[in-house]
Amino acid sequence: MTAEQTVQYPLPQELHRDRLPRHVAVIMDGNGRWAKRRGLPRIMGHRRGVDTLKKLLRCSRDWGIGALTAYAFSTENWGRPLEEVEFLMTLFERVLRQELKEMMAENVCINFVGNLKALPQSLQAEIYRAVQLTRSNAGIRFTIATNYGGRQEIVQAAQNLAVQVQKGLLQPDEIDEALFSRHLYTAGAPDPDLLIRTSGEMRISNFLLWQLAYAEFYVTDTLWPDFDVTEFHQAIAAYQQRERRFGKV
Ligand code: IPE
Ligand code: IPE
Ligand code: MG
Repeated sequence: MTAEQTVQYPLPQELHRDRLPRHVAVIMDGNGRWAKRRGLPRIMGHRRGVDTLKKLLRCSRDWGIGALTAYAFSTENWGRPLEEVEFLMTLFERVLRQELKEMMAENVCINFVGNLKALPQSLQAEIYRAVQLTRSNAGIRFTIATNYGGRQEIVQAAQNLAVQVQKGLLQPDEIDEALFSRHLYTAGAPDPDLLIRTSGEMRISNFLLWQLAYAEFYVTDTLWPDFDVTEFHQAIAAYQQRERRFGKV
């Protein structure tokens, strides 16, 4: 973090700086329920959800968490009503455009995972611009999973490797975990240490199937638009209480 960057969220005393998760992943769930409870259309929940994400990103950066990955749209979410899908695509594009200047000022490196080629052209252009412009920023690595599916990611990695074998560039027994990881969208990034899911659902919903192998899970009933820095603090505190064994004793 550079000197001119203002810290809005000092690290709470209770949290140990040397035991922060390096990478936090979030399944931002419950926007629709949040809106429904207020008698509003679902899209209003998505709009409010953006505010939660912005706060969490800034807070993560200020606390010194190196990477934040947010699940914004799954490969299964295309199955929602067309009106909602179109609203989300437009929302992603607008938010990216509007927030780019601030992301630069806050030293955020923006990154995307997912099958981006299937997204609307104008959104792809905005994504490309944001990724290019912020690529040297080192404040925090912020990854947005859009048209992302863990199974799809693994299948495309397998296809890439199969092509290399077919071309004679690779032997099947040369394929190990490290090589396979390098063919995933997340190549080179550390696996998440902590996964947060809002709205109480105890499932992974096709998110980062490979990368979450040893992540700690924190599930809260709070709906995503209501999730805030106080609860983020609780999630990190819970994480710091966990004993991570990685299969050992
Ligand atoms: C998560 O909220 C946002 C996206 C999947 C885009 P939902 O839209 O899934 O909200 P619920 O789960 O229906 O309440
Ligand atoms: C997971 O939420 C996907 C995102 C948050 C983008 P969903 O609401 O789509 O997942 P399910 O349907 O509850 O498993
Ligand atoms: Mg949901």
